[in-house]
Amino acid sequence: MEKVYKELEKRQQEALIGGGEKRIESQHAKKKLTARERVEYLLDEGSFEEQGMLVTHRTTDFGMDKQVISGDGVVTGYGTVNGRLVYVFAQDFTVFGGSLSETHAEKICKVMDHALKVGAPIIGLNDSGGARIQEGVRSLGGYADIFYRNVQASGVIPQLSAIMGPCAGGAVYSPAMTDFTMMVQDSSYMFVTGPNVVKTVTNETVTSEELGGASTHATKSGVTHFTAANDIVCLEQIKQLLSYLPQNNKEKPADLPYELDDEYREQLEGIVPESANQPYDMHQVIDGIIDENSFMEVHKDYATNMVVGFARLGGKSIGIVANQPMSLAGVLDVDSSKKAARFTRFCDAFNIPLLVLVDVPGFLPGTDQEWNGIILHGAKLLYALSEATVPRVTLITRKAYGGAYDVMNSKHIGADYNFAWPTAEIAVMGAKGASEIIFRKEIAASDNPELELSKKEQEYADKFANPFNAAQRGFIDEVIQPKDTRRKLLRAFATLENKEVVRPKRKHGNIPL
Ligand code: HXC
Repeated sequence: MEKVYKELEKRQQEALIGGGEKRIESQHAKKKLTARERVEYLLDEGSFEEQGMLVTHRTTDFGMDKQVISGDGVVTGYGTVNGRLVYVFAQDFTVFGGSLSETHAEKICKVMDHALKVGAPIIGLNDSGGARIQEGVRSLGGYADIFYRNVQASGVIPQLSAIMGPCAGGAVYSPAMTDFTMMVQDSSYMFVTGPNVVKTVTNETVTSEELGGASTHATKSGVTHFTAANDIVCLEQIKQLLSYLPQNNKEKPADLPYELDDEYREQLEGIVPESANQPYDMHQVIDGIIDENSFMEVHKDYATNMVVGFARLGGKSIGIVANQPMSLAGVLDVDSSKKAARFTRFCDAFNIPLLVLVDVPGFLPGTDQEWNGIILHGAKLLYALSEATVPRVTLITRKAYGGAYDVMNSKHIGADYNFAWPTAEIAVMGAKGASEIIFRKEIAASDNPELELSKKEQEYADKFANPFNAAQRGFIDEVIQPKDTRRKLLRAFATLENKEVVRPKRKHGNIPL
């Protein structure tokens, strides 16, 4: 018996040091934590239960039978984050560069299966050289086994991916199918083909950082939802994000204790400028509405003409989708439509009520937008909001023009409550553009076309640059004062606590992808 205990101890020790002290030092030299340090930091102290610590690969080719390390390059198991059960896998770069073998994949699949079975979030800490080259198709099969599970778990349990090192080739597709991706600045990158292949195929010279570093994916591609200065910040962000989410799609997010006391918010008065063309920061409106410091912005640096993120209202988790007049006047374009559509669908899948803040001059015109499919991408947002069955409340702060009025959670596509501030302008388009079209003949025939245009512009503005036409028809439920907004929203969302919508039976809809 003693012999068996000794052997167990030896193997556990081997797993604990992974690729060895030297490789751990090299990981630290790159300012990266090891896989085990990451898991320890992420989970509540003492809560981690490891599964598969003694698993080893089964490869004999290329001398691999002489290099066998318990754990096979990935630490897997479960634990708690602030008392809530989560499943986790962390790739260990010190073992074969964290590369994915058949058995490495089996370990990941096992925790994914458990997470799905018991309805708990799955968190992947990725740091890997991709498919284990010595294993050929077996490692490719392992990836596909993971992809398949990502899809089965989608919309059932939250799936979070942190990219904390290299992530190349097919390895990027698992994170891409999870709900949220975070990248650590300067030590992580994601690409389908690396700089060398790019050079060979397209003759472009590009660094790994430029091609697929954190800032590239945060600003240009939108592949990552969050960036973090280092591993610790990244792990803290995961904990914060989890706090807004439920365990699974059958539950609601946990409420934080909240005592009602500051429901009138004077700071909301005067945010919208007198001039319709002057920008203002929608973050000010958000901060004026929500519980103090509760906003966690998603995709902060991507498609900045749309702001999306999680917040708390009276202690309850909500998702916010808002036009941002500070960036491109808050116009809807390809990227902002995709960003808002994806966020909307996540909230809807996981029972997180939606607050939509509207100040939108319409869709962005131009060949670039049309040729890049604004019709299709704008339709994604229209579709995503129309199909959402979670509580949906809209506030129009200023412009709601044209098709964008319809898209941005209008009453017509199923919003539950629609509020407008007195500064709201709900019309087919702005007064100038509208007058130039409908009064073209009068303006042309006038002795003073400029004066005539401004008269007509005023006439149109008097008629439509307000919320009253929409309110008369019931498309707006109530015109409210800015300072009263928080109180109104708290009450509106409270009535929707038990909202239920029955949809016709179907396999799934056909969102315009
Ligand atoms: C086996 C690997 C490996 C891999 C790295 N290693 N990647 N072993 N399979 N994919 C090993 C290295 O041989 C080395 O072992 C150790 O890990 C550390 O790697 P280094 O190269 O020394 O580290 P670094 O300089 O930091 O470079 C990291 C790296 C580089 C950029 C990730 O290792 C690299 O380019 N690896 C190959 C990446 C790749 O092409 N993967 C396949 C992608 S295709 P020793 O013992 O020498 O220290 C793919 C298809 C999936 O993934 C398709 C799914 C649909």
